[in-house]
Amino acid sequence: MSEPLFQVDESGEDVTRAQEAAAGTAELSPAEKAATREEHLRLAEGALVRGDDLVAGYVPGVNILRGADFYLQEGELVGIIGPNGAGKSTLLKTLFGLIPVRSGEVTLRGEDITSAPAHRLVQLGVGYVPQNNNVFPSLTIEENMQMGVYLRPKTFQERFDYVIDLFPLLGERRKGKAGALSGGERQMVAMGRALMMSPSVLLLDEPSAGLSPAYQDEVFIRCRRINATGVSIIMVEQNARRCLQICDRGYVLDQGRNAYTDTGQSLMNDPKVIELYLGTLAKAH
Ligand SMILES: Nc1ncnc2c1ncn2[C@@H]1O[C@H](COP(=O)(O)OP(=O)(O)O)[C@@H](O)[C@H]1O
Ligand SMILES: [Mg+2]
Repeated sequence: MSEPLFQVDESGEDVTRAQEAAAGTAELSPAEKAATREEHLRLAEGALVRGDDLVAGYVPGVNILRGADFYLQEGELVGIIGPNGAGKSTLLKTLFGLIPVRSGEVTLRGEDITSAPAHRLVQLGVGYVPQNNNVFPSLTIEENMQMGVYLRPKTFQERFDYVIDLFPLLGERRKGKAGALSGGERQMVAMGRALMMSPSVLLLDEPSAGLSPAYQDEVFIRCRRINATGVSIIMVEQNARRCLQICDRGYVLDQGRNAYTDTGQSLMNDPKVIELYLGTLAKAH
């Protein structure tokens, strides 16, 4: 095909690359290079969290992750995007020890935590917010926060102050039942609860899913703010563009493998990423 199927609103240089890519003549882009194992091994050096060549799945004989590489450096906000069923949630669950790893390794500050139980990871400073069922609906907001800090009850007030500074609504509604809240408000409770344990890493699975556009925006802004307080973040998102806009680096996961990885900005402007994952074709994908 001679005409790219996608719109590139940037410079002429990008259009040229898009045409080359469509014609199959382009060199490997930085994003593609970075998706190779060698680049991963070089760049993942000294990472806070890393997953190497991960193979994992649910049903015997069926691998969902098929050699995925991942790293998060201290202080980073890293986004993971990709089509439905690509294995994004599976990757987060694998990092958090919720799925046995068939091969490969997960490390936290260089320590092997492959398949370590979730409670151990919480003690080590990893917080995980699943996409659904992430609050105790029959408990009040305040009680939900207490559940978050059960390992260190003395720190409740100090942590609660930090959380309500980020999410003032949780302070105003502290005596209300979490079950009475909207989806967006519950998402705040779930994030707040994870933050009560002073995590150094937060794993977020589609924090903006199912929220109104205004709430979605709020979630992305909060994530940046949480990150600015020193919490490193791994965020899986279906709102790919918005995620790439706010993250330092991003991964495109496809069929259980890294398809592309680069800075959020570069991925957003990469013609192939646009074509396959962000453009009109991506919607039909
Ligand atoms: N609990 C489960 N048992 C069996 N298969 C599962 C389970 N959860 C997810 N899968 C399968 O794993 C694949 C990847 O799922 P998932 O990681 O949830 O994708 P994503 O989050 O990228 O949409 C899908 O084919 C899905 O059907
Ligand atoms: Mg998912």
